[in-house]
Amino acid sequence: MSEIMIQGGRRLEGELHIAGSKNAILPIIAATLLCRDTVYLYNCPKISDVVLMIQILRQLGCRVIWDDKVLMIDTSTLNSSDVPAHLVSQMRSSIILLGAIIGRCKEARIGMPGGCQLGKRPIDMHLDGLRKMQVEITEYEDFIQCMTLNLQGAQIHLNMPSVGATENIMLAAACAQGTTTIHNAAKEAEIVDLQDFLNACGANITGAGTKKIIIHGVSELKGITYRIIPDRIVAGTYLVAGAITRGNIILNDVYNRHMQATINKLRAIGCHINEEQNKVILSVAKPLKGIGLKTEVYPGFATDMQSQFLALLTTCNSISHVKENIFDARFKTAKELCKLGAHIIVDERKQIATVHPTPHLIGTSVEAMDLRGGAALVLAGLVAKGCTNVKNIYHIQRGYEDIVRDLSKLGANIWYTEERK
Ligand code: EPZ
Repeated sequence: MSEIMIQGGRRLEGELHIAGSKNAILPIIAATLLCRDTVYLYNCPKISDVVLMIQILRQLGCRVIWDDKVLMIDTSTLNSSDVPAHLVSQMRSSIILLGAIIGRCKEARIGMPGGCQLGKRPIDMHLDGLRKMQVEITEYEDFIQCMTLNLQGAQIHLNMPSVGATENIMLAAACAQGTTTIHNAAKEAEIVDLQDFLNACGANITGAGTKKIIIHGVSELKGITYRIIPDRIVAGTYLVAGAITRGNIILNDVYNRHMQATINKLRAIGCHINEEQNKVILSVAKPLKGIGLKTEVYPGFATDMQSQFLALLTTCNSISHVKENIFDARFKTAKELCKLGAHIIVDERKQIATVHPTPHLIGTSVEAMDLRGGAALVLAGLVAKGCTNVKNIYHIQRGYEDIVRDLSKLGANIWYTEERK
């Protein structure tokens, strides 16, 4: 299955269950390396980024069993601190293993994560924080060598609230000597989930969700059973699917409090949204209008929802301006949306996209350029006239369990197909 086909034109209606969060499970899988026995994780999303993380843990000597309901990870058999470059290059977020491996082994060797479709994505804040904790780091052409004789807590000030740097420092600090304070920390819901997981294992961390996180190092962590929070970005993506088709959808098993920025922007466009306990209900009863939108750090409007909104704003009846403030090249999907007939003008220097109303999109062949951009192209295909063919869907499978299964459940005319040779 390497391509998705969508016959556009159907209003989506129905209910969906939202799976566990990719951006919560990845750092928590890394955190299991700090426990020297077995962890059981529930609500783990069946996505390819998790499959890759499991491959890496097995490469390090861990035992991992993943059945339908639970992911069992036993790191007592860990026998390596060397993460192969070819695995890191497939998933840059595997850099999140660095802090945990150093916390466990006091040394680590990891492939240098490349940039990606979103821009440069340096890791200077990760490395600066670890150096402050007395980790000696040597950067080679395509890998990083780390070692420490005595992992020490430190006062760490992040230049910007980097999610990955915050998580890597939390992981290294959990079992370090003394106390670490992270100033200007990222406040994402997934960082709170990581704190909750670590504290359940016996760590002593406070402040996640605020800009100051304090970690008192402990001597060891014990394996536990834990349930991952739902994925707020997958949930937001499916709300946009309902909005773009002027449909009526219900999302179950979501944490509304994690999605307020997305919900507020959908209301600003003209969608009607009801919220109940762990449930969000969207309907559209009037014409949708363009808005001004800027991506911000959490709890502001998520950069991971930007591409999906580009597709939605294309169908609104007035102009929109979208400013990307987090990544330096996250408008690559605009070009693909324009192949479908969208009228989006991107100022690369300012990272601003101007979205002009387009009466209707016309289905054609387009290419997923990254995870959320690929999802955005599927959303556009839901309303394009005729058939839309989305290629390179491996990007989408990194973060969505089965977007075809889910949208079909809501009534979309969508299916997988093999790549035409
Ligand atoms: C996490 O990436 C998420 N990934 C991203 O989700 C998300 O877009 C991003 O946070 C922002 O919310 C995971 O959680 C696995 P950052 P991360 O460090 O940690 C710059 C998705 O679609 N920066 O907060 O890599 C960086 O270049 C993915 O699920 C430095 O300059 O994001 C970027 O411009 C995409 N130096 C900005 O900060 C550093 O040392 C935000 O990066 C680190 C980051």
